[in-house]
Amino acid sequence: QIAAASGHSVVLVDQSDEILKKSTKGIEESLKRVTKKKFADQPEAGAEFIKKTLKNLTTSTDAASVVHSTDLVIEAIVENLEVKNELFKTLDKFAPEHTIFASNTSSLQITKMANATTRQDRFGGLHFFNPVPVMKLVEVIKTPMTSQKTFESLVDFSKAVGKSPVSCKDTPGFIVNRLLVPYMMEAVRLFERGDASKEDIDVAMKLGAGYPMGPFELLDYVGLDTSKYIIDGWHSLEPDNPLFAPSPLLNKLVEEKKLGKKTGEGFYKYK
Ligand code: 3HC
Repeated sequence: QIAAASGHSVVLVDQSDEILKKSTKGIEESLKRVTKKKFADQPEAGAEFIKKTLKNLTTSTDAASVVHSTDLVIEAIVENLEVKNELFKTLDKFAPEHTIFASNTSSLQITKMANATTRQDRFGGLHFFNPVPVMKLVEVIKTPMTSQKTFESLVDFSKAVGKSPVSCKDTPGFIVNRLLVPYMMEAVRLFERGDASKEDIDVAMKLGAGYPMGPFELLDYVGLDTSKYIIDGWHSLEPDNPLFAPSPLLNKLVEEKKLGKKTGEGFYKYK
């Protein structure tokens, strides 16, 4: 959405036409929200902006067949290294020489993905935050193999889509998630111990620390499956780090397919 809105030609790729239809509809709805504010007194200019943005957006279910026309690939698929590496390996065969590959991973090592390709110098991380049209930050990740030219291109792209880039080494969670995920897990543990209700913890962090959402609202918003992927990955890297300890309650909710807002229930109910 933000790439198309800033004049880039975008091909959105997903597994089925059904998902792509849903995604396109989501983008249309989100554009309406953005436009309402940006063009508050100019409804015609707003409608034109939406039309122009959607014109920059096409869809496909076959990444390999569209990658030949890209300068930049941003991967945002399931948080599973093997699946990501498989995709990157395939795309590497069909993408032009100059094309930069970037992953939006929340917690996996960019270096490991780069090593699945033959373009380690043209590979980096571009980590966006939910909801992307609203959150101004993007983390740009440079591995030891990322060239300075690639890094600068990723920084330039981030600015071109209206974001404020920060850079971080290829370390677990980069900056934001390295601080945010242990905080959210500590909130779950506080609740699991029975020290406070989840409602009170959320109110406390909103009114006492000025956060826009409490930790349980944010966990539901991000997705409990995503949060579990992150914490499980870190736990396997550092089993003795108490900040990365798995939570029985989080595991139970994920097992019950209560993944947060997207499934209608997580820590809270949204039906
Ligand atoms: N698309 C476009 N605009 C959107 C939007 C979307 N998907 N969602 C919200 N907005 C806009 C609204 O239109 C509204 O605009 P306005 O101020 O012009 O009316 C504005 O954002 C505020 O939205 P709401 O009034 O509906 O609701 P809130 O004031 O409660 O804000 C929120 C919603 C922006 C989501 C706010 O609660 C927030 O900032 N929450 C914290 C989000 C956060 O921490 N994100 C990071 C998560 S971690 C992550 O993503 C990393 C990953 O790796 C796990």
